[in-house]
Amino acid sequence: MHLPRLNFAAALLLSSTLFFTTACGSKEDEPKPEPTLYERMGGLKGVEGFVDVLMANVAAEASAQNSSMLRTHTPLLTDPDKPARLARLRNNFINQIGEATGGPLKYTGMTMLSAHKGMMITEKEWSVWRQAADASMAANNLGAKEKAEIAKILDDMKDATVGH
Ligand code: HEM
Repeated sequence: MHLPRLNFAAALLLSSTLFFTTACGSKEDEPKPEPTLYERMGGLKGVEGFVDVLMANVAAEASAQNSSMLRTHTPLLTDPDKPARLARLRNNFINQIGEATGGPLKYTGMTMLSAHKGMMITEKEWSVWRQAADASMAANNLGAKEKAEIAKILDDMKDATVGH
């Protein structure tokens, strides 16, 4: 009386084992997803490196003769609370790039339009800022593919940043 029941249970166990073995086995053949840009940049340390060198490049340009970036950065550079303001900018910028590159960070700062509203950033100022970003990518030894992907992220924000 009990045997047929056992056989049924055994058959069920066998078939489900076979099903899962097959399902799991095929997973190994699937190509691994490509690491995110955030991961390829070296995670948080990589994003921080990119932002820190970019900010240092902007600061250096702003203190050079005939600077293109001094005009827009004067309110920040002359603020008695400059250290706190710089720290906030750095933090926002890291979160923004960290999120845009597929990392776990979340940007909670202003939209690009409101952050740059009233600055009337010119084409020339934009291109000098972009050169500072390119120089940071090079200094951080990023690969060609990573550089192109970061450049696209930045260039997609140009319309919200320039001329407002
Ligand atoms: C895609 C390009 C750019 C990105 C991603 C970017 C990103 C940011 C971010 C995240 C902030 C802080 C927003 C907040 O505090 O909520 C900011 C502020 C600012 N950005 Fe940009 N920016 C870009 C281009 C530029 C350019 C071209 C200039 C000038 C040449 C510029 C000058 C400034 C200045 C002066 C501030 C205000 C800092 C302060 O007053 O504390 N940015 N930007």
